[in-house]
Amino acid sequence: MIRFDNVTKAYPDGTVAVDRLSLEAPTGKITVLVGPSGCGKTTSMRMVNRLIEPTSGTITLGGQPVSGTDATELRRKIGYVIQHAGLFPHKNVADNVMALPRLLGLGRREARTRALELLERVGLGPQFADRYPWQLSGGQQQRVGVARALAADPPYLLMDEPFSAVDPVVRAQLQEEFLRLQREIGKTIVLVTHDIDEALKLGDQVAVLREGGRLAQAAAPAELLARPADAFVAGFVGRDRGYRALGFAGTGDGVIPAAEPAVVLGATRAEAEAAALDGWILVTAPGGEPIGWAALDRLDGDRVTEQDLNLSATTARTDGTLRELLDAALSSPSGRGVLVDAEGHLAGTVSPTAVARAIEEAASVTAPAGAIAGSAVESAAGVTAGSVEPAAGSAAEAPAGSHL
Ligand SMILES: Nc1ncnc2c1ncn2[C@@H]1O[C@H](COP(=O)(O)OP(=O)(O)O)[C@@H](O)[C@H]1O
Ligand SMILES: [Mg+2]
Repeated sequence: MIRFDNVTKAYPDGTVAVDRLSLEAPTGKITVLVGPSGCGKTTSMRMVNRLIEPTSGTITLGGQPVSGTDATELRRKIGYVIQHAGLFPHKNVADNVMALPRLLGLGRREARTRALELLERVGLGPQFADRYPWQLSGGQQQRVGVARALAADPPYLLMDEPFSAVDPVVRAQLQEEFLRLQREIGKTIVLVTHDIDEALKLGDQVAVLREGGRLAQAAAPAELLARPADAFVAGFVGRDRGYRALGFAGTGDGVIPAAEPAVVLGATRAEAEAAALDGWILVTAPGGEPIGWAALDRLDGDRVTEQDLNLSATTARTDGTLRELLDAALSSPSGRGVLVDAEGHLAGTVSPTAVARAIEEAASVTAPAGAIAGSAVESAAGVTAGSVEPAAGSAAEAPAGSHL
């Protein structure tokens, strides 16, 4: 656990970058510091590995005050990833990754083997080992940065805007991979971002900071969405928070999928016509996995082929979230949202009206006014007030829904 106890940092020019911060980053979990630029995120983080010394207050790592720990010793226990990866430009990838263990005396051959393992962990093949940073894309550089931070197998990781410099598509991919990696390695992580969506997606706990380096609220994502502590937090988590909260609410028992007739790709026109409802027929793979919808009046030949398919719809898993369900219903050209079971097989369809009813039900289980707040979200996501335990089926899980 990393613990901030009443920590303040005033720079010599009088700027108070961090103001009496008290916060716990629990062991094995991801704590995200989020807030507008200049609110003291980087300063907070750099006080943990003693790149910056606090003016007052204490920071402890597993109960040990960092101020009493030799800085070099301390940094061996703390991996550090920064924006743009901060790789050594004159070293190749393998040497970048292994710089610290080599300094600590690890032999060349062992270092090479370990570098290849680490690169594989972050999704880079052995062919990257001998490249130089300038030969890599931004996303690849960030992966190398993560591999390097993990090289000495530290229990703690500090990550400062690790995904901010890459384009949105690559960023989403890196986020997913990062969550998958964390499920394997279970490090105690503090991650800084200015992006609230990233914070809600990655954090087991999200700490919202405001200008002047003050902590506005620290809570699990569902809790933050359901009960922002004040107007600043409410504004920062944004206008879509009701909709976002759906991402943490399970579909529960609220939705019973209707049976949906389907044909296998390659079926005849006659078969499709016989099975179709309202002019649309759902088409599956031979194994029963939905692929897409076909409009009867636009079928091209005698058989249903891939050219006939509308692929715009997303699917929701029966054990997924209300947000996926709503997406599935709204993205379906037939107006019927496709549900699949854990194996990806067709489980039926739901109408937008049925989803709306389920949402209403989830909201009505809860307190009076407000968004999809309160106990429905809590019970669905396994969150209790003040708890920072990861929510079952929360953002920490793999994305359940997928594209048809
Ligand atoms: N070395 C410094 N000297 C004076 N002020 C600084 C220094 N570093 C950062 N600051 C100021 O401290 C505040 C917090 O900075 P920082 O921690 O970098 O914020 P964030 O990472 O949230 O953008 C800002 O107002 C910034 O200008
Ligand atoms: Mg910063």
